Amino acid sequence: MAENRDHWASRIGFILAAAGSAIGLGNLWKFPYITWHNNGGAFVLVYLVCVLAIGLPIMMAEILIGRRTQKSPVPAFEELGNRGWGLVGLFGVLTGFVILGYYSVIAGWSILSFWQCINWSISGYVAPPEGAFGEFLADAPSQILLSFAFLVATAFIVWRGVSKGIEKAAKFLMPVLFAILAYLVIRVLFFPGIGQTMEFLFRPNFSELPTTGVLEALGHAFFTLSLGMGVMITYGSYMRKSESILRSAAVVVFLDTLIALLACVIMYTIIFSVPGMEDSISASAIGMLFMTLPRLFYTELSGGVLIGPLFYILVAFAALTSTISLLEVIVSFFIDKLKMKRHSATVLSTCIVALCAIFSALSLGAVGFMSEFEIFGGKPGVLSTLDHLAANWMLPLGGLFTTIFVGWFVSRKLALEQLRMVDKSGRSTFYFNLWRFFIRFIAPAAIIAVIIAVILGKDFS
Ligand code: PHE
Repeated sequence: MAENRDHWASRIGFILAAAGSAIGLGNLWKFPYITWHNNGGAFVLVYLVCVLAIGLPIMMAEILIGRRTQKSPVPAFEELGNRGWGLVGLFGVLTGFVILGYYSVIAGWSILSFWQCINWSISGYVAPPEGAFGEFLADAPSQILLSFAFLVATAFIVWRGVSKGIEKAAKFLMPVLFAILAYLVIRVLFFPGIGQTMEFLFRPNFSELPTTGVLEALGHAFFTLSLGMGVMITYGSYMRKSESILRSAAVVVFLDTLIALLACVIMYTIIFSVPGMEDSISASAIGMLFMTLPRLFYTELSGGVLIGPLFYILVAFAALTSTISLLEVIVSFFIDKLKMKRHSATVLSTCIVALCAIFSALSLGAVGFMSEFEIFGGKPGVLSTLDHLAANWMLPLGGLFTTIFVGWFVSRKLALEQLRMVDKSGRSTFYFNLWRFFIRFIAPAAIIAVIIAVILGKDFS
């Protein structure tokens, strides 16, 4: 099976695809919002610690499961553990459906914002009437159409396979994304709000950090690094034996963190540069990215005509490389476990996801009971419920099982063989021992703390 399995065609293939999965709406939409609400500085520092101490070790653990078995999550857990452990993989596939079911709807909004910006750039800015975004959300055909458009683009790439589809797409999309981001960062460096942004982000003041911020930072680390549902196991299974897991994981974690911070720099600087804007940032994350920013691009910035459309291409590309990875987890399960061909597996899984997406798309005001339906207090609607379910429960739980599995059930020897962190005399290095300590003790303890916090009522979505 390993021989005829498709692999990344180049070393950079894994890194770009995995970074593409990690960098997404979590970086551009969620992170700037939670950082804003947790008052910057101290939160950023805690988040960095979570990413390094928990995110990086778990990412290495996931990649090593995939690389070693060369299989998708369910058969991979079964091979290294037993049938029971396969359920952890299955849980990941389910999480994939849940996340894709709402993520594709939000991703669809970036197409609208892009389109709107292009129109404004060509024919001049016309202020949207009050409540226009709310009306758009409640418009069933637009929501369904845009999310379907996004899913079709995703499916098209996954259909083409690992090296010819996912890797090729990542090799094109990621450099474009980096270039747009670099351009935007350079632009905002000259805006008056830059000083205030730097101070907000990088001057920690622990008295301003809400106590729940620590747990929120950890919860977000899972989401943003695509951990806890088998994405990195799946992508690791297409990795060749010669590549270094530590180096690849470190680069992915670094890029993801860098881009989350740069997204904050861009957005906050624009906001701080406009007098009075700070106070009128609407209470929701959605507001900042899709409502406040497009307006500012055209009313307050010189060069907004270019920045506007570019920014939403960036959002769309970032979301696309993430939805690709989510779909690939499901498709690879259908291929490996149900022995389906890639093409039929892609069509089947996209159809099921599209069904979930319809429910999310209709829960933004179009259909009353879907918009009001509430399992988790204060999270009405199918879309918010799915987001809450995935970010607060499914990813941390999947991550917990993964660390316990790799820390306690996979042998030290096997892990060392895959990570190859040995010195000249063949003994494990200090960093390997450190990794193992974090995987066995620190990561599970931290995740259990999050889960307990969630049970006690803290929301991480
Ligand atoms: N990491 C992605 C983001 O930040 C979301 C994601 C979560 C993708 C889990 C795959 C798996 O947007």
